[in-house]
Amino acid sequence: MKVFDVGIVGGGIIGQGIAYQLAKEGLKVAVFEGGTIGGKATSAAAGMLGAHSENEERDIFYELCLESRNIYETLSAELMEQTGIDIELINEGMYRLAFTEEEAVELQKLAETNVEFEFHPREYAFENEPSLSKSIKGALWLKGDGQVKGSSVCYAFMKGAQKFGAKVFEQCPVMEIKKEGGGYKISTPSGSFLSNKVIVASGVWSGIFFEQLGLNNPMKPVKGECFAVKPKKIIIKKTVFYDHCYIVPKKDGKVIIGATSYENDWDANPTVKGISGLMTKVQKLIPSIGDEPIVDAWSSLRPQTEDSWPYFGEHPEYNGIYFATGHYRNGILLAPITSLIMKDIILNTKKYQRFLNAFSLNRLCSGAKGR
Ligand code: FAD
Ligand code: GLY
Repeated sequence: MKVFDVGIVGGGIIGQGIAYQLAKEGLKVAVFEGGTIGGKATSAAAGMLGAHSENEERDIFYELCLESRNIYETLSAELMEQTGIDIELINEGMYRLAFTEEEAVELQKLAETNVEFEFHPREYAFENEPSLSKSIKGALWLKGDGQVKGSSVCYAFMKGAQKFGAKVFEQCPVMEIKKEGGGYKISTPSGSFLSNKVIVASGVWSGIFFEQLGLNNPMKPVKGECFAVKPKKIIIKKTVFYDHCYIVPKKDGKVIIGATSYENDWDANPTVKGISGLMTKVQKLIPSIGDEPIVDAWSSLRPQTEDSWPYFGEHPEYNGIYFATGHYRNGILLAPITSLIMKDIILNTKKYQRFLNAFSLNRLCSGAKGR
């Protein structure tokens, strides 16, 4: 039986990010992926690093988002150097639009609250983004919220982890994690593996392991649908959002439009209703997008938790079993900090204690909410 220091269940961006950081430290790491690497929520993501677009509160979750977002600049260079993979980081910022005078006043007020925000009056917004609807009343520029290609980040993490000796098993679903000797037996249809420590990072499917290991299952799927167009020429440079609709121009010329949100829906197929709703909304933001060719439509399941915060930490009773899951709408944004926090936990370096306290499994056991 093969023996590893750390076995990671799930080869999405979270599992692969952790594998990369631990393998870089010289640990013997294995990733067990039930399907293909990054094939679930990670590939469905628009890739926004929306520390501000996704957060109204200014709490510790916001701090987590901001710290993670700010790692991307150096991580991008590091992954390029280690693997030759471009994670397609774009730092154009995002435009939050206003369609009424009241919304414009609200955005103007918000601009005064953060050095990263800048209010652009209607005419100036058009100068920057001429395709925007003539009905807008202004835009708030969130200067620092960039974007990446989630699947490329995941793939680069995998290649980097492999370079440092990690083993990656695809089409290898973990069925059971069971205590054996001083470590754990990881059972898959391809055989069993022994690992001293195990990290569950299997997105919304992590719920099975919470249950199997005697804990309440906090995981809930939130289905999200997107579609993409490929305009003949560049129509937008910044990510734009308004009323649960975002438009994300990618490096390859495609423009992603997302996303719907359906709670407790395990069906991961995009629907006519979902995609047509997005098509209506997006034409309000950029009317000319109606003429562009559709090249793709997809959906996947966001891993939400009861309080919408992720879990990072050790099982309260099984020493050596850890969870890094529940990233809901922000797994791409949060992958860099998650991988460093999990490294911190495994190596016991105590660099991220404040995040460990806030996002530990204690709130699961006590029933206390993170927020
Ligand atoms: P996943 O990517 O789902 O990976 C989990 C992996 O575990 C899967 O590959 C699965 O096959 C595997 N697995 C499951 N069970 C087992 C098992 N028993 N054994 C082995 N492997 C198993 N986030 C952002 O930050 N920015 C965005 O712009 C953004 N946009 C999004 C748009 C949409 C439409 C959706 C759906 C999500 C979006 N997200 C975004 C959220 C982000 O995609 C997720 O938070 C993130 O991908 C979660 O990563 P993960 O690795 O935990 O999960
Ligand atoms: N963060 C964007 C989404 O989840 O749709």
